[in-house]
Amino acid sequence: MHPVVTTEAPTARQHPDSYAVTAEFYDILQADQDEKRVRHLYGRQVAKARLGVLDIGAGTGRVTLMSLVESQVDVHAVEPARAMRTSLLTRLAVLPARQRERVTVHPHALDQASLYAVVDVAVCHNTVACLPPAARDVLWPAVRAALVPGGSLFLQLPPAVLPTRDIVRLLPEKRVGEHVYGGRMTMSTAGYRIRTRVDYWVRSEQGVLREHTETFWMWPASRARISADLERHGFVPLPGHDDPRVLAVTRPDRS
Ligand SMILES: C[S@@+](CC[C@H](N)C(=O)[O-])C[C@H]1O[C@@H](n2cnc3c(N)ncnc32)[C@H](O)[C@@H]1O
Repeated sequence: MHPVVTTEAPTARQHPDSYAVTAEFYDILQADQDEKRVRHLYGRQVAKARLGVLDIGAGTGRVTLMSLVESQVDVHAVEPARAMRTSLLTRLAVLPARQRERVTVHPHALDQASLYAVVDVAVCHNTVACLPPAARDVLWPAVRAALVPGGSLFLQLPPAVLPTRDIVRLLPEKRVGEHVYGGRMTMSTAGYRIRTRVDYWVRSEQGVLREHTETFWMWPASRARISADLERHGFVPLPGHDDPRVLAVTRPDRS
């Protein structure tokens, strides 16, 4: 019998050991798909950056790496979870020096990273959903502070509503030598939050070798709600961006 590890997420600030289980499986199960998705969603905006790119909740580095390729500017990767940062740094370690020298990893939540007027493009992919309203409220001023006037934020919206029944998503299995890695995500409503339980396994021809579980919490919020919050913090909609998956706002020149 192999241990089952469950990490209960705190409600306000994320524990630094979050993603301790998930980090091992994150890239092998999701990186290929995510790489294409982030290039598609943010690549053109990142390529226009003239000062710097901020990756908020960099995880294992999907947006960070894409930004290093698509832009010529400095990249700030903000990632508080040690396990995710470990994968991120391992990735950065194999980059050519000229790319690695352009990226700085900040091992904090954004509101503790002390970044002021360092970027003109900020990306927040697959992160806002993991933040309770109180954490979002401290995130927005920190994004605003990191952006220069005229800079823009592109963020992937959280689920708009609570699921009415359990949503189960199987992550495509991947072979690594003699072993096959797999995962399954189950999202269910728990009060006003979404409980996302992720089950991982590694199997060989003889059967399952080990299994792990990590549980995350998500907070749904509509596009209108997030837009209104951002407006309160001095952002305005960026014209010409109507992709329903991404909210694009800018920090006006004079504010
Ligand atoms: C679901 S992961 C997504 C990682 C990456 N953006 C991706 O799509 O692969 C969310 C990440 O946001 C980080 N995070 C949580 N709160 C944060 C905050 N306040 N500031 C910056 N990062 C945060 C977590 O540690 C986690 O790695």
